Amino acid sequence: MRIGISTGGGDCPGLNAVIRAVVRAAERFSECEVVGIHDGLEGLIRGDGLTTLTLASVSDILARGGTILGTTNRGNPFRYAVRTEAGVVERDVSDRVIANARAAGLDVVIFVGGDGTQDIAARLAAKGLRVIGVPKTIDNDLLATDVTFGFDTAVGVATEALDRLRTTAESHDRTMLLEVMGRHAGWIAVQAGLAGGADVIVIPEIPYNIAAIHACLEARRLAGHHFHLIVVSEGAMPGGGSVSLVAEQTAGKVARLGGAAERLLNSLMQFGEYEARVTVLGHLQRGGTPTPCDRVLGTRFGVRAVELARAGASGRMVCLHGTHVTDVPIEDAVGRQRTVDPEGELVRTARAIGVCMGD
Ligand code: F6P
Repeated sequence: MRIGISTGGGDCPGLNAVIRAVVRAAERFSECEVVGIHDGLEGLIRGDGLTTLTLASVSDILARGGTILGTTNRGNPFRYAVRTEAGVVERDVSDRVIANARAAGLDVVIFVGGDGTQDIAARLAAKGLRVIGVPKTIDNDLLATDVTFGFDTAVGVATEALDRLRTTAESHDRTMLLEVMGRHAGWIAVQAGLAGGADVIVIPEIPYNIAAIHACLEARRLAGHHFHLIVVSEGAMPGGGSVSLVAEQTAGKVARLGGAAERLLNSLMQFGEYEARVTVLGHLQRGGTPTPCDRVLGTRFGVRAVELARAGASGRMVCLHGTHVTDVPIEDAVGRQRTVDPEGELVRTARAIGVCMGD
């Protein structure tokens, strides 16, 4: 059995743990060989980006961030950007992917990725390719799994940033705004905000009211607090407003979020001068060493993916339900994001300890 494996979409800590687990678990069975597909599906679209993965290829990668296979968030074969005389247009090259997978003798392909990648996997499965999905994203916004690997590392980085901002905020009596990733889900902001003792946490699921945030900071000041920590999710928006973008969506490229914290600070200024600074954490949340938690989850997901491949499954996505690794139809994970419940226990916990949720 030749098992292909591809990592798609934005990278995240723990991808190498999955690749290593897949190779090591497959190696125990003489009939299994694992083939790495380079740069998302680019390796299959081009047809020349495939490498057999051995135990040697995956030695020493468990603690390494990123992905040894490379990845891209522009490689959707159903909307593949092609440069023509008329400019860049999107073409459907999915038939080429399937033909090249067959030519390479791949019996099944493991797609490690977020909702975009899982959607591609489901559509390729519908066209006859055997696929297994493995969910990943620092955003933790995938449906059908309780958690994705990469998230724990991102929360750790954001929490450490808050710990560091706290000491400098305290020294200068400043308001510090930390913008974190997460796209349209506030998981990183809420978890890091709680872990880092933020005073205000602003998430996309709860459109903010700038007067309420100002009132909260003013109340804190009157109570004797001279510095404040505000976590702003990159997808945060004011009530009646929209997300802040640094780049619109174009052919083959997704829209890029950014500027939410700076915009929020500018709005706060209408109430008077704020001695404030903005830190945008950006890709620091995605790079570097995965936490033990993400290494273990990635390893468990990789092993389950090999078990499914060997059992002849297709169209299934590995997932975590409670403390158990199991699997669901890939379709259960696509089409919608798993977002923070504004009335849920996590938000209620934050409110209960006096955190302003921006509203
Ligand atoms: O989905 C993961 C993520 O890191 C988001 O949190 C963020 O909005 C986006 O990817 C950034 O993408 P890029 O690496 O293309 O700038």
